[in-house]
Amino acid sequence: MSPLILSAAGAALLLDTGGQGLPRVRHFGAGLGPVAGPDLLPALAAPAVPLLPAQGDSWYGRPGLSGSRTGEHWPVRWTLDRLDAEATPGAGGTVTIAASDPRAGLELVSELAMDAGGLVTMRHTVTNTAATPYRLEGLTCALPVPERAAELLDFTGRWALEKVPQRRAFGHGVWSRENRRGRTGHDATGLLVAGTEAFGCRSGEVWAVHAGWSGDHVHYAERVHEGVALLAAGELLEPGEIILAQGESYRTPQVYFTWSGAGLDDASARLHAHLRAGRALPVRPVTLNNWEATYFDHGLDRLLELADKAAAAGIERFVLDDGWFRHRRHDRAGLGDWYVDEQVWPDGLHPLADHVRKLGMQFGLWFEPEMVNPDSDLIREHPDWILGRAERMPPPQRHQQTLDLARPEAYDYLLERLDTLVAEYALDYIKWDHNRDIAEPVHDGVPGVHAQTLATYRLLDELRRRHPGLEIESCSSGGARIDYGILARTDRVWTSDSNDALDRQAIQRWTGLLVPPERMGSHVGAPHDHVTGRSLPLAFRAGTALFGHMGVEWDLTSASESDLEELATWIALHKRLRPVLHAGNVVRADHPDPSALLHGVVLPERGVFGFVQLTSRVGSGAAPLRLPGLDPAALYEVRVAGPVPDGAAMPEWAATPVRLPGSALGELGLPAPALRPTSVLVIEVVKVAGCDMRSHADF
Ligand code: DGJ
Repeated sequence: MSPLILSAAGAALLLDTGGQGLPRVRHFGAGLGPVAGPDLLPALAAPAVPLLPAQGDSWYGRPGLSGSRTGEHWPVRWTLDRLDAEATPGAGGTVTIAASDPRAGLELVSELAMDAGGLVTMRHTVTNTAATPYRLEGLTCALPVPERAAELLDFTGRWALEKVPQRRAFGHGVWSRENRRGRTGHDATGLLVAGTEAFGCRSGEVWAVHAGWSGDHVHYAERVHEGVALLAAGELLEPGEIILAQGESYRTPQVYFTWSGAGLDDASARLHAHLRAGRALPVRPVTLNNWEATYFDHGLDRLLELADKAAAAGIERFVLDDGWFRHRRHDRAGLGDWYVDEQVWPDGLHPLADHVRKLGMQFGLWFEPEMVNPDSDLIREHPDWILGRAERMPPPQRHQQTLDLARPEAYDYLLERLDTLVAEYALDYIKWDHNRDIAEPVHDGVPGVHAQTLATYRLLDELRRRHPGLEIESCSSGGARIDYGILARTDRVWTSDSNDALDRQAIQRWTGLLVPPERMGSHVGAPHDHVTGRSLPLAFRAGTALFGHMGVEWDLTSASESDLEELATWIALHKRLRPVLHAGNVVRADHPDPSALLHGVVLPERGVFGFVQLTSRVGSGAAPLRLPGLDPAALYEVRVAGPVPDGAAMPEWAATPVRLPGSALGELGLPAPALRPTSVLVIEVVKVAGCDMRSHADF
């Protein structure tokens, strides 16, 4: 028996590689210290979860692999054929495991890695080695969580209200979040979290799993009566979707596992660090999107005026949304006809694009590549390109159907159209939308979401290969396609179609567990929100949008001069603070007052916090603002950044900036202002150079 340890950033994964079968995971959680594998042998009596849970390894819960063939195939009992590991203590590592069951006619390769931030990724590949077809029904990745993980947290939602938390006790049985919408879904959990009792953002021990996949998927938590529990995730396959002929393989999406000894924030920070270690993003330009300003009304003069106002307010990118292509005067026609509408735009988009560029802004364009309206030239010519059964139309949603992207002709058409338009207008940016759940997705006679998702990924990858500077936003009726599969090939997500800042506070807080602020689109909406009808002050709308990739989605041609000036002030503040907002550690205080939120973004030298009064306070005394995430030994100067909210009763420190160590700011906190509901106070902390409290005698 030779235990193998991967460790990094305070986390560790312990694999028991002894025995003939697959390794067992004995521990995923806190670092184990400077201990060598063999020293751990006495501790390995604890129950464990096989790398791919199966009865052959005495796992009586839900199996990691399920499938069938005619004749002998079940149960599968793996024999370990090869194990390659590269692990550096404290710096993570990789493990590749090959196993087989010749009687079942299957081979397995499992790839496991821990990155430098302690995030674990896992994926399995199964290959059919027998002569008869193997009908794969499911292949998921799992890691154990210990007995003390007593509660579960996951997320649900709907259009314009994504990522609503739900919590429950983690009892015996399976809690499974399944998605069959053909896209990630408004109700997708994103993260499925298990934690110790009453865990919060900054307290308790938590474990979480996320499937990096934009099609049907499953996340589940299971506890069996032997006392063992696990978190698992993977693609959700329909019967008949994957039938492996001899020699064919299926590879799972990448599944992410994260752990924290101090609440959700650290678990989330490992995910953010993983994304940030990938493609580096240029400075995030403040964006104007015309959707809620003009909808389908693409009068050139109006758009030029909007661009003028945008540039004057300090906006750096102009995105033309839905409505620019042939037949698209409303949402009932045109999807698929990706040619600039000659009637609305007789000179193409050039007059607008040129004007936008002259104003010093980038130019972006909306597409919904995977969708078609039956009322389009494309579908009149190719009715058989609709994803579905040939003899009947799937039920419509928003008057649209899905294009069968796994059909090479449909894929080639789209690639040519996108490629041509990106080149013709030198597009800086694409907003890539997907506005329906996919119903009855039959491709070539079998369920087709798997093939559709891979084709979308291929299309995105190819477009990026041809246009390396192009940025892409993943939108899906707001936040219905937010996952690490799409984020591997896009630069930001449209978080929600709700620009209502009150709802957005919660949506951004929880979407932000997966998505770092610089990749989370957050726009200043109209004074009366178009979705909820709620009226909110500009300072609250802007102070909410400030903490993401800021933008504006409001008809600035109808805004007053004083509103435009105020907006410009907020945009300037965002630009000043974005080096912190878009690179720092996100912190969410467990603020005791449910009528308020306290959150921030912290770098070693600087931090920005938002104290948000959502509704009226019950008590008359406000809880202090305990600012999390600062270096306890550093001295900080604290000041108000941005406008003081209307009607606020401000404490003394707001007028005269105070200097306090991070320890005091985190422990005692600052006296809170009394804010009216729907107000945000932005607070900035800056480390006082050369002042390290570690040298103070009483520290
Ligand atoms: C849904 C998106 O989420 C909106 O922002 C907008 O782009 C519309 N689609 C356009 O049809």
